[in-house]
Amino acid sequence: TALTPSDVAAEIGVIGGSGLYDFLDDYETVTVTTPFGPPSDPLVVGEVEGRTVAFLARHGTDHRYQPHRVNYRANLWALRAVGVRQILSPCAVGSLRPEYGPGTIVVPDQVVDRTWGRQHTIYEGEGEVVHVGFADPYCPNGRQVAVDAARVSALEVVAGGTLVVINGPRFSSRAESLMHQQLGWDIVGMTTMPEAAIARELALCFTTVAMVTDLDAGVDGGESVTHEEVMRVFAKNVESLKSVLRDAIGQLPAHEDDATATCDCRRALDGIALPFP
Ligand code: ADE
Repeated sequence: TALTPSDVAAEIGVIGGSGLYDFLDDYETVTVTTPFGPPSDPLVVGEVEGRTVAFLARHGTDHRYQPHRVNYRANLWALRAVGVRQILSPCAVGSLRPEYGPGTIVVPDQVVDRTWGRQHTIYEGEGEVVHVGFADPYCPNGRQVAVDAARVSALEVVAGGTLVVINGPRFSSRAESLMHQQLGWDIVGMTTMPEAAIARELALCFTTVAMVTDLDAGVDGGESVTHEEVMRVFAKNVESLKSVLRDAIGQLPAHEDDATATCDCRRALDGIALPFP
């Protein structure tokens, strides 16, 4: 029988991207309903490095949701509902710099949201005017831990950089890619926005761990990107990525209460009447 949110207490969430469909070896399945409908899949909850982790496949285990069709609001709400306060969010990205080759891990510190037509906020009820701060989109603790974990792996690591999120599901044209490079942005993906923003709206710590799978169109005279290439490179590096995530999970700060948290993410809703328990 499937468990409900009150049966579990997870502290860390992992939202697995394309190619990361199984992360926990031993888990229980938790069915969560949210005001925004069901998440991409039931959550699976298990132990990693002594911490209780809730894993969710962003696109669904059979990859049924394209990036623009993922129910980010339900996914984040469901994770919070089982107790999660810190999230690691791996994703596949294209590189906008020739020196960041396939297999590189980038832990971005900034994001540019070029998505549209997605559900961008959980605060849309009448009179519910909430503007959360997003100057620093990612959790400083989560980023530090992810960078440290990646540095002891076999993968190349870049600490910081700007992720531009396009709407997809198509890849960028050469002109779009060139524009993104000329604006000084570093990597390009199709997910994690509005995911990161909704995480902030729920006062969750959120860290994107991006895996470069390709050089985006027009980088270094590169070829057009293919989905096949993205999946192949991700699959080749997925075990290393998993071990980075496992190490990072072990190093994340203990689940302090919001008042003693050492980052501002958890205080994003100070003074705001919470729409959730
Ligand atoms: N995901 C992986 N590679 C990508 C690219 N080049 N553009 C957008 N999203 C991607």
